[in-house]
Amino acid sequence: MIEARHLTKRYAGRTAVDRISFEVGKGEIVGFLGPNGAGKSTTLRMLTCFLSASEGSATVAGHDIYEDSVEVRRRIGYMPENVPLYPDMRVGEYLRFRARLKGLAYREARAAVGEAMDTCALAAAERKMIATLSKGYRQRVGLADALVNKPELLILDEPTNGLDPGQIRQSRDLIRHLGERHTILISTHILSEVEMTCGRVIIIDRGKIRASDSPKNLIHRLRRPGSILAELKAGTDAPAKLSALPGVEEVGASEDHDGWTRYTLATDPQSDVREAVADLAMKEGWKLRELASRTASLEDAFVDLLRQGGEPPTPDPVLLK
Ligand SMILES: Nc1ncnc2c1ncn2[C@@H]1O[C@H](COP(=O)(O)OP(=O)(O)OP(=O)(O)O)[C@@H](O)[C@H]1O
Ligand SMILES: [Mg+2]
Repeated sequence: MIEARHLTKRYAGRTAVDRISFEVGKGEIVGFLGPNGAGKSTTLRMLTCFLSASEGSATVAGHDIYEDSVEVRRRIGYMPENVPLYPDMRVGEYLRFRARLKGLAYREARAAVGEAMDTCALAAAERKMIATLSKGYRQRVGLADALVNKPELLILDEPTNGLDPGQIRQSRDLIRHLGERHTILISTHILSEVEMTCGRVIIIDRGKIRASDSPKNLIHRLRRPGSILAELKAGTDAPAKLSALPGVEEVGASEDHDGWTRYTLATDPQSDVREAVADLAMKEGWKLRELASRTASLEDAFVDLLRQGGEPPTPDPVLLK
């Protein structure tokens, strides 16, 4: 659905996006992740033909972003970072206006707007002035706008920016639902959102792609040691005995509460020492009330990747069929 090759954007001597190549296959939900200023919005603007690239090329559904920009725009529903809305228009009126601008005939526009408002749970706000809407509703109007021309591809630039946790959860469900019918490229800072909705993540930093993989694989590739938490009522010899278990590299202990101590065991990445800890507690007659392995999160993977300065740039991906 998207093929970008060596896409580059330079602003007055500063390279914001540096020869990036990536693909998004039909039906995928891909998360575009990176710190502030990484080049996410710039890349999305180039793909949606709002900004011309300094170098490189890209196609959307087989159409070139330079030569065929009309066809490209027709296939994309784009929700920009700051949704531009007309404050003195009513929601329904604005969306119908936008649909007409996108080339829909009058009746077609009315039907499409009705459908998009249903999808985005906007029906109750149809007659409200945009100026009076809360942030969450404005974002939904932006999304409905992106949906109105029934695009194959949705490009959403931080659609949950500024929303409260309840709204973020709703928006996550909505994006998952939209993913059943659309290919989606979504830029966001909310890692839990990516972990739960995206099949693949592209991590970009300082204009270069640092990784492209499923959230699960990114976490798996993390070179961080494992860690186990054990809450025990044990003797003073516990740290030494825990340290002696095979696979345990370091033992930390936090304060006592009523005789209970929380031990944190750093282990080598391949070992799961929980069973050995339980056996040891039983053998020593210690009381055990919690035993858990702390699994790495996408956030850990993200922070680690950026700290390492990333992996060597990924070679050009093999073309998807
Ligand atoms: N119009 C512009 N003129 C000059 N520099 C720009 C312009 N737009 C963006 N930049 C710079 O390009 C870099 C990439 O910006 P971009 O907006 O693409 O980042 P981003 O990844 O979307 O960040 P954020 O997470 O903050 O939205 C930044 O260093 C930014 O300052
Ligand atoms: Mg941005």
